[in-house]
Amino acid sequence: MFDLSRLAAANLVAQIDYHESLGSTSDRAQELAASGAAALPLLVLAERQTAGRGRGANRWFAAEGALTFSLVLSAPPDQLPPHRWPEVALVAGLAVCEALQSLVPASVLQVKWPNDVYLAGRKICGILSESLPGWRDRLVVGIGVNVNNSVQRSERTGDGEPETAELRRIATALIDHDGLPRDLTATLVSTLDHFDRRWTELLTGGFAPLAVAYRQRCFLTGKTVMIQQPGGATLVGMCRGIDDDGVLGMRTFAGEQRVRSGSVLRWE
Ligand code: BTN
Repeated sequence: MFDLSRLAAANLVAQIDYHESLGSTSDRAQELAASGAAALPLLVLAERQTAGRGRGANRWFAAEGALTFSLVLSAPPDQLPPHRWPEVALVAGLAVCEALQSLVPASVLQVKWPNDVYLAGRKICGILSESLPGWRDRLVVGIGVNVNNSVQRSERTGDGEPETAELRRIATALIDHDGLPRDLTATLVSTLDHFDRRWTELLTGGFAPLAVAYRQRCFLTGKTVMIQQPGGATLVGMCRGIDDDGVLGMRTFAGEQRVRSGSVLRWE
């Protein structure tokens, strides 16, 4: 059970929409944002999600004990025009890394471009950053973090859920990492505080100052990766990390390429 009064005191949050159980916090956030009635930033929070969404057609499965929430953010176009919105997922990933790092100080937390956080080589958090049809100044950022919901000890519970063995190979939770249960409210407050700081930096100073911190945590740098770009074309090459605009550099057989958005299909 979350302590809503502690969450309401977080700098980033102007309004909270809390649910014990909800299909998807991002669906709900889209509805509230489109109505125009919510005070922003709005935090939509659920103890349990029954129809969580991932990127594209993916679903997001998380048992109780996970953090599943979405933020509706106001993005003034003069500070963050829509063509720069891909930077938001990068900033969110960085903020989650920084928040989790204080809980596992000796462990390796990395951002996997464009929208995942990895703990010791396994995915611990997914981020879904979405625009809102008809709005140029607000967006929805959905964040799922595996905290007390063990992935290593989980059983399959739903149709379409990945095979357990595959999930254990690629994913983790804080509790899998060190066996310690966490206070979900404190973990969320810390995540919101880190996000608030990085979001303010993005709006006031652009992405370049944040790129320095991102590069230090970039999971893909130096790896050979295959990326599917919007439209379907795939690109294979050595990842050279992100530039000051948050664009990924790739060294391919055809020369240097810059990738602003896409899905990472494989890496080694
Ligand atoms: C991904 O890895 O593909 C992104 C996963 C995003 C999951 C979060 S959980 C909270 C929010 N609500 C959703 O339905 N999805 C996001």
